[in-house]
Amino acid sequence: MELAGNTILVTGGASGIGLALAQRFLASGSDVIICGRDGDRLEAARSANPGLHILQADLARQADRERLARSVVDAYPNLNILVNNAGIQRRGRFRDDAAPWADRSAEIAINLEAPIHLASLLLPHLETKLRACIINVTSGLAFIPMVFAPVYAATKAAMHSFSQALRAELADSSVTVVEIIPPAVKTDLGGAGLHDDGVPVDEFADAVMARLATEESEIGHGMSDHFRTATRDQLATLYRRLNGMKD
Ligand SMILES: NC(=O)c1ccc[n+]([C@@H]2O[C@H](COP(=O)([O-])OP(=O)(O)OC[C@H]3O[C@@H](n4cnc5c(N)ncnc54)[C@H](OP(=O)(O)O)[C@@H]3O)[C@@H](O)[C@H]2O)c1
Repeated sequence: MELAGNTILVTGGASGIGLALAQRFLASGSDVIICGRDGDRLEAARSANPGLHILQADLARQADRERLARSVVDAYPNLNILVNNAGIQRRGRFRDDAAPWADRSAEIAINLEAPIHLASLLLPHLETKLRACIINVTSGLAFIPMVFAPVYAATKAAMHSFSQALRAELADSSVTVVEIIPPAVKTDLGGAGLHDDGVPVDEFADAVMARLATEESEIGHGMSDHFRTATRDQLATLYRRLNGMKD
């Protein structure tokens, strides 16, 4: 992928991995629009990164996704890259989760419904561009489900599957589909401190940018690259070991 000269929407771009990628796209000479729910966080990201554009939206809401897609195309008609990065992670075992369904279903709405809906809303526009891309941020847990985040892992596995199918369908178009597969990265995903043992976000984002430039369609890092390329047998062993199951 050519890193310069693009117009890029990064969902969830005011923090963590999204912000780190947004900063690097900006530095590479692309126009970058970030969105998220927290207006103060968006403003802080814009102040710290002159040139960044912001749009507030709650991507769990269908109406906000439709409004976002309309505003971004109207205000930034050169838009040629969608980065579906926004996500949340709810921690806990499935049968212990007594939260109301409205809270539980939000994880599915943000991690799965939103990226698919945004891809659907923006694809007709992206297909008018000579070069365009949909980048989906999934997770190493798309390959190894874990009991501590069962629904999260399921949404990411679904996004891995969707990315593959969409890539095949769009192979004869100007739109490429790239999947970024983070390992544990040190951000506040799921709450402060839960990912402190992850790789530093700058290290991860630098590695991703280098590989985006080489036209790879699936980009992991460290452990998640291992998961991505493991055989079925290796995955089965890892799955049992990481979930504390007896051999
Ligand atoms: N960190 C890791 O270890 C790790 C590993 C694998 C995959 N990932 C994936 O990487 C992506 C980025 O996560 P991160 O680690 O950078 O965590 P993060 O810092 O918490 O970033 C998540 C972003 O998503 C936004 N967001 C959440 N709900 C939203 C909603 N309803 N509408 C709009 N924006 C929303 C948040 O902004 P607001 O709260 O302001 O809305 C936030 O900026 C996620 O898809 C995550 O699943 C992360």
